Amino acid sequence: MSSIGWGKIILLGEHAVVYGYPALAAALDRGVQIGAVPTPAGGALRVDVPSWNVKVDAGDDSPFARGLAAIADHVGVGRPPLTLVGDAQIPPGAGLGASAAFAVAIARELLAYAKKPADARAIAAAADASEQVLHGRASGVDVALAIAGGVGVFRKSTGLRPFPLQGVRVLVGPSGAPRSTAAMVDKVASETGGKADDTRLRDLGSLADVGATALAARDFATLGQTMDRAHALLTELGVSTPLLDGMCKAARDAGAFGAKLTGAGGGGAVIALAPRDKEAAVLAAWKVAGVTGFVATIGAR
Ligand code: MEV
Repeated sequence: MSSIGWGKIILLGEHAVVYGYPALAAALDRGVQIGAVPTPAGGALRVDVPSWNVKVDAGDDSPFARGLAAIADHVGVGRPPLTLVGDAQIPPGAGLGASAAFAVAIARELLAYAKKPADARAIAAAADASEQVLHGRASGVDVALAIAGGVGVFRKSTGLRPFPLQGVRVLVGPSGAPRSTAAMVDKVASETGGKADDTRLRDLGSLADVGATALAARDFATLGQTMDRAHALLTELGVSTPLLDGMCKAARDAGAFGAKLTGAGGGGAVIALAPRDKEAAVLAAWKVAGVTGFVATIGAR
């Protein structure tokens, strides 16, 4: 048996979601798959994700080890002689929800091992223990998407409200520049004075509502405009970079409906929405900037 946590993109509303505003988010058609095997010779609780070069045991002093230990402690499973082997199809630290996908897949496996109920609430609570260790203050949007998949509007107060959507393709460009979600969340807090009534945060929330209606109606021109506007606001809040700005401009120049950074920013990934016959041109433009992008069909579950 193995467990999945879905990777995700935030189409609109990152950062504002930390202050209670809505975010429009969608699962990617890929994530992190974890399977548990007995550790040889009954050794420690370990996790091994070869494509991330992660090979740690729960007692190590590294972020993934601390995340694993936090989940094990939350589940109350101790340190069983298990190796959790991961197959990750998304890069870590790229704003695509890799740490939440990792935490959710591990939480599912450890809850199953402990023979505890693995409903969404129990998985979220266990995965959050790792997210708090890795990111500090988090809205919960990454974990909600990693559990449920699909597409929806997330609010801290109401959780994820999914809506049906099929066959929508988004271009994803991991810039390769590392970043820290916690540092970017802190940056927005100092830029806004931590005040939820900051107009930029409020506008980001409104754009998420407009974008959700546009996405449900498959009005990609309007959705693209909201993405461009959101990127400008995120730039004002100080979480974009020249590389991300350049990738967004390159995507628009190549015919995209719109483009923006996704997730915390400061590095990480850009997303673009483009007519089918312009997708190759967007990917080629990113390639010139040294970025290998991919096309994902959103809403996997
Ligand atoms: C990270 O994917 C999105 C942020 O809004 C942080 C959060 O919501 O936890 C930047």
